[in-house]
Amino acid sequence: MNGNFLIRTFGCQMNEHDSERIGGMLRADGMTPTDDVADAGVVVLNTCAIRENADNRLYGNLGHLKPLKSRNPDLRIVVAGCLAQKDQGLIQEKAPWVDVVVGTHALPHLLDLLRRAEADGPQMDVAEYTELFPSALPAAREDAFRAWVSIATGCDNACTFCIVPFVRGAQRSRAIGDVLAEVQGLARSGVVEVTLLGQNVNTYGRDLTVPESSRRPLFAELLRRVNEVEGLRRIRFTSPHPHDFTPDVIDAMAESEKVCEHIHFPLQSGADAVLKAMQRSYRRERYLGWLERIRAAIPRIGVSTDIIVGFPGETDRDFADTLDVVERARFDSAYTFQYSPRPGTRAASLPDQLTKDVVQERFDRLVALQERISLEKAGDQVGDEVEVLVEGAGRRGGSTQARTRTNRIVHLADPLEPGTFVTARITGAAAHHLAGEVVPAAVPA
Ligand code: 5AD
Ligand code: SF4
Repeated sequence: MNGNFLIRTFGCQMNEHDSERIGGMLRADGMTPTDDVADAGVVVLNTCAIRENADNRLYGNLGHLKPLKSRNPDLRIVVAGCLAQKDQGLIQEKAPWVDVVVGTHALPHLLDLLRRAEADGPQMDVAEYTELFPSALPAAREDAFRAWVSIATGCDNACTFCIVPFVRGAQRSRAIGDVLAEVQGLARSGVVEVTLLGQNVNTYGRDLTVPESSRRPLFAELLRRVNEVEGLRRIRFTSPHPHDFTPDVIDAMAESEKVCEHIHFPLQSGADAVLKAMQRSYRRERYLGWLERIRAAIPRIGVSTDIIVGFPGETDRDFADTLDVVERARFDSAYTFQYSPRPGTRAASLPDQLTKDVVQERFDRLVALQERISLEKAGDQVGDEVEVLVEGAGRRGGSTQARTRTNRIVHLADPLEPGTFVTARITGAAAHHLAGEVVPAAVPA
């Protein structure tokens, strides 16, 4: 196809990764990316279903596209991602001007679907299969120096609040050799940082039949193998689940020099009763115990988390328990969410759904507490000299945004080439970023 395409991505890194593949397929087909919707022949909305406002945003966006489509009937509108998988036929019922609905498993069929839409009108593929990992499709990556690598899709857990198992299916791990081959290829093409992606990386490999492994999780082994890839400098991964976390993963992290000192470790709630109702099998003390072990093995590791406020039945006591764990865990950062009932999940039909006011008030208190801790933890870093990877231009002219191995953003005053490593001295701290200056490389005597 000729012309321009525009992709809007909502949601998590899994979706960002899928969008790179959508862009890759469209480019391979002869199209060019554009930022201007008026200029686009194909508009793709890659949707997320995890929280409430995702639905509203999709239908809002589709509303805005309707007059464009009336003016230009050749415009092709595609809805992809988790909401496509969840809402299926409802999307074209509500917005008949959508040309293609492509579910999470059917991504490799996108170009065919567009062609068929051309000839036969609106198309939908939400079949429940994954023939190909999205990583096997061509990619149009945003940056030449870093890449996401999918190691598993889907999730075998059944957290009662979560829609992911419904829209992404059961866990399917990618063969270790395939992951390694992709990372090696990326490193050869100049990528210095990879982020390994899975809903629950600890159970990676459980569904693979590997001789002599008897369904043993293989994540620690995968980390060690990726660590050996030449040319690569940084390895990140997201996310582990505290339930399946194992000491061999801590050892592999500590002993693999390319694995960054950062872990995203979703807490969800600090109250045992709520964790139980969420069907998260760990409890608060066990969670804190894991954190202690991780920090003992990897001193000064950056820790981020996810927390949901206002799960059905959450009492004032329960919420106080969450604040208490947050106080004790001292996260560097937290993604905080107000509970939103997702249709079809167990939690959506629980009694005791809380009112918006109660949830908002608790949410504000949690955010204020975490902001204080984030700022204190950032302040601890002032004076440090650390390696940072330059990611791109900063907000002020001539400035640069870089990232520490511990996943903190550092603003530098100098213009630097994205993808390069420099040493930065930390000179200032805010809750969500650091300020730094470049330490000139020592001149050999
Ligand atoms: N309501 C609010 N937050 C949710 N999350 C997942 N499902 C819901 C929901 N129904 C949050 C969890 C998860 C993150 C990606 O999104 O904290 O870890
Ligand atoms: Fe959802 Fe729980 Fe699976 Fe994460 S582990 S994707 S929260 S069901």
